[in-house]
Amino acid sequence: MKLLAIVGSRRKKGNTSILVQEALKPFSMEGIETELIFLGDYDIRDCNGCEACKDTYKCIVDDDMQKLYPAILESDAIILGSPAYFYNITADMKAFIDRCYCFEVFDKDDRSVWMGLNEALGVKYAAVIAVSEQEKEEDMGFTAEAMVKPLEALGYRVVSTVKTLHLYKAGEALKSEKALQNAKQAGEKLLKTLQLKKEVKTKLSENHL
Ligand SMILES: Cc1cc2nc3c(=O)[nH]c(=O)nc-3n(C[C@H](O)[C@H](O)[C@H](O)COP(=O)(O)O)c2cc1C
Repeated sequence: MKLLAIVGSRRKKGNTSILVQEALKPFSMEGIETELIFLGDYDIRDCNGCEACKDTYKCIVDDDMQKLYPAILESDAIILGSPAYFYNITADMKAFIDRCYCFEVFDKDDRSVWMGLNEALGVKYAAVIAVSEQEKEEDMGFTAEAMVKPLEALGYRVVSTVKTLHLYKAGEALKSEKALQNAKQAGEKLLKTLQLKKEVKTKLSENHL
């Protein structure tokens, strides 16, 4: 079992980073392998819409995203975290998500028929953490949805969406018991979902189904 966590803020000691790492704790406590990625450490160019991936499911853009594709494919679950930047995800997170377009599969003749690669490989699971400064949820805009919708399109079931409001300065999340608790609970739910899947698979094979 492996969990991949992606932080879309460049503030390594910022609120998104803190909350994503809090969500990882239940996995580490169970000795499950986790990988934490700060997108700011990677040179990820925008998707150029070349469609070269359409038959191969591989992106031809030669940049650091090539290091992340194997990690995405190998992981059983993913956590995406981003602060609100003008009501939306950060540019780093948007570039990362757009470059996962190579994992979208379309029928050759009818593009209304499509699926995420995970639907063919086996559904995966995800959690989303969105962070914003203002007190009202509307001021966070589409930040959470801008991660949830693409994840769903890619064949992930998003089991937890955490919207954390009213955090501004880097590190403020450490002082918010509620924010830390919500992030940890999101991790716990994701972990329990993966454990349930494992249990069901074992029972299925025991019962020769
Ligand atoms: C460019 C930029 C745009 C922002 N836009 C919003 C916004 O639309 N709504 C909001 O509530 N906070 C906004 N914020 C505040 C951040 O979301 C907030 O400070 C958050 O805690 C930063 O997370 P981090 O510490 O993980 O980087 C913005 C901050 C920056 C730098």
